[in-house]
Amino acid sequence: MIESTAPVPPPLSEAQVVLDVIRRRRTVDIALLRPDPVPRRVLEAILAAGTWAPTHGRTQPWRFTVFTGAARERLGNIFAQAYAAGSAPDRDSEAALAAQRARALKAPAWISLELHVPATSKFPLWEEQAALACAAQNMLLAATAFGLASKWASGAVMISPVTAAALGAPALMGFIYLGSPAGEAPDSSRAPLSEKVTWAE
Ligand SMILES: Cc1cc2nc3c(=O)[nH]c(=O)nc-3n(C[C@H](O)[C@H](O)[C@H](O)COP(=O)(O)O)c2cc1C
Repeated sequence: MIESTAPVPPPLSEAQVVLDVIRRRRTVDIALLRPDPVPRRVLEAILAAGTWAPTHGRTQPWRFTVFTGAARERLGNIFAQAYAAGSAPDRDSEAALAAQRARALKAPAWISLELHVPATSKFPLWEEQAALACAAQNMLLAATAFGLASKWASGAVMISPVTAAALGAPALMGFIYLGSPAGEAPDSSRAPLSEKVTWAE
């Protein structure tokens, strides 16, 4: 008689761990975050992951401001100022400005994506922006690995020169917000490789 035993899963290879984190990362709406603060050591590990992004000539064209706790009230005021200075039809509405202030409090942690291109950089702007985008993706993946939900937010207020000036940044590529997920993240989809890849062999 053959004894039936549960199949032993193969050891998870390092590649599989990374691939799973990449596949698991989802853009999560701010309404689906829990209010619990993100521990400082977790935020530091996420930021460190950001700084390990590829950067042509190691220009490291990024600065990050991390807003947590009561500092998010300041961030909300900045969002409201940027909204008031923007072109939305309701930019004079007190309710719309209050919504901007409230938005900052809905996520436990915000990380600005500030583009600081060194004056000595000899690379085109797109390469510096790409480096910051790589840093952003590293942080989104690190957050996912810590079980956090996140989103890269780049709406008008998030990239406004008013917001950038308030942070002392020459330019902004938006913010990442983070928090514990309140439930399952909605799934996403991608076109199959066959639509996007040409194999030249
Ligand atoms: C540069 C950049 C900016 C983005 N800005 C926003 C944004 O402002 N608001 C938003 O809801 N999602 C934003 N996203 C996230 C996309 O909407 C999201 O990646 C897409 O819907 C696919 O969902 P997924 O990330 O869960 O696969 C941004 C993504 C990138 C790469």
